[in-house]
Amino acid sequence: MENIKKVVTLVYGCQMSERDAETLTEITRGFGYTPSDDLETADLVIVNTCCVRESAENKILGKIGELKKLKERNSHVKIAITGCMVQQPGALDRLTKRAPHVDIWAGTHNLHDFSALLHRVEQGGKVAEVWQVPKATLEVIPLAVKGKLQANVNIMYGCNNFCSYCIVPHVRGRERSRKPEEILQEIEGLVQSGCREVTLLGQNVNSYGKEFSPAYDFADLLHQVDQIKGLLRIRFITSHPKDLSDKLIRTVAEGEKLCEHFHLPIQSGSNQILERMNRKYTREYYLSRVQKIHELIPNASITTDIIVGFPGESEEDFEQTLAMMKEAHYSQAFTFMYSKRSGTLAAKMEDQIPLDLKKRRLQKLMSVQNLESLEWRQNMIGKRFEVLVEGPSKTNPTRLTGRTRGNELVVFKANLDTIGTLLTVKIKEAGSWTVVGEVEGF
Ligand code: 5AD
Ligand code: SF4
Repeated sequence: MENIKKVVTLVYGCQMSERDAETLTEITRGFGYTPSDDLETADLVIVNTCCVRESAENKILGKIGELKKLKERNSHVKIAITGCMVQQPGALDRLTKRAPHVDIWAGTHNLHDFSALLHRVEQGGKVAEVWQVPKATLEVIPLAVKGKLQANVNIMYGCNNFCSYCIVPHVRGRERSRKPEEILQEIEGLVQSGCREVTLLGQNVNSYGKEFSPAYDFADLLHQVDQIKGLLRIRFITSHPKDLSDKLIRTVAEGEKLCEHFHLPIQSGSNQILERMNRKYTREYYLSRVQKIHELIPNASITTDIIVGFPGESEEDFEQTLAMMKEAHYSQAFTFMYSKRSGTLAAKMEDQIPLDLKKRRLQKLMSVQNLESLEWRQNMIGKRFEVLVEGPSKTNPTRLTGRTRGNELVVFKANLDTIGTLLTVKIKEAGSWTVVGEVEGF
């Protein structure tokens, strides 16, 4: 079997990036590549990149350096660097100079044209191509990989919000929504191949379909996806709080498979900072959304993203963020230090916060949220939850893991043949990140 070519795909960043990496890996199958985890025997290495924070970029630059050494050991390996980091204005010049050992450079807008690039490189030579605007029509985009229990399905691309700290609109372009019939067809195909849970992806799913006439919005789409037979669960990310409608909350409340979980990034608890971030809501409005969720769905779980150390963030602003964590009762929070992204509005703001202060605030925020997350999970003790069984636990293979509808990770013992099914699990113990439960009768 010496002639089988192997591709190793490394991914950095969000679910969109993961989904793009899946597409790239699928494209390489057409060239005879089989996915692998072993860099030493790889014929092609793809690194799908992220540039949302400097820390991600530094990690990726380190990896690109390591790949240079790999190429010295194994001269026939081809290296492709793709995605957001490459798409940043002016980045290609800098990157190609820094890493001449790379064979393919491609941005986010021309990922779907990767086969043309790979073809050229297989003939010998190197390619570097970044399109300024996406050219591919949305519907020819490769579909999610079939045969897996869970799948990510893009419902839209790009973002129009231009939060002042964020590079995403600069590297993923303006919002474009896929047609509902295309999305429904893709999910039906996935379900036929064994998929039981889909996560609908968009930078702001709440603005899905804004360009459609007659009117058809995200709640309408969710309602239709909910009718698909054989599917067990539907999740979605990310919801911008400013666009979270009552109709959407009601749809989730009434839906059968729609999981009662909202990822609702707050970013900051201070109105002054929210305004400078261009988030277009106040903490009061945000809290009114949280209240509405709890009113219509009492057990809904809410998770969030928070940035500390945004330019001009005072101690008082930060205190308001801490207070927000306690008021909103998040089940989980993803916390970040502000990272200056060139080309964004915030990068030009004065009063940037020194690194040591950002670090201190992050530590404090994480310790508050760990307690909140623990309290949330302790409240689960003694109650029964529906869990979709995903597979053996990575840390303890004698146990299985799965998630509740609220997206809390659960560890429990059960037969392997329950993988892919829904079980009722009674929670016995809780930590900040996971809960341990028991399946009755096992
Ligand atoms: N610095 C720090 N965090 C950022 N995020 C986006 N841009 C930045 C930045 N420049 C965070 C936001 C967003 C999440 C995906 O990443 O919290 O919701
Ligand atoms: Fe970035 Fe804001 Fe768009 Fe989210 S909504 S991708 S934070 S600009």
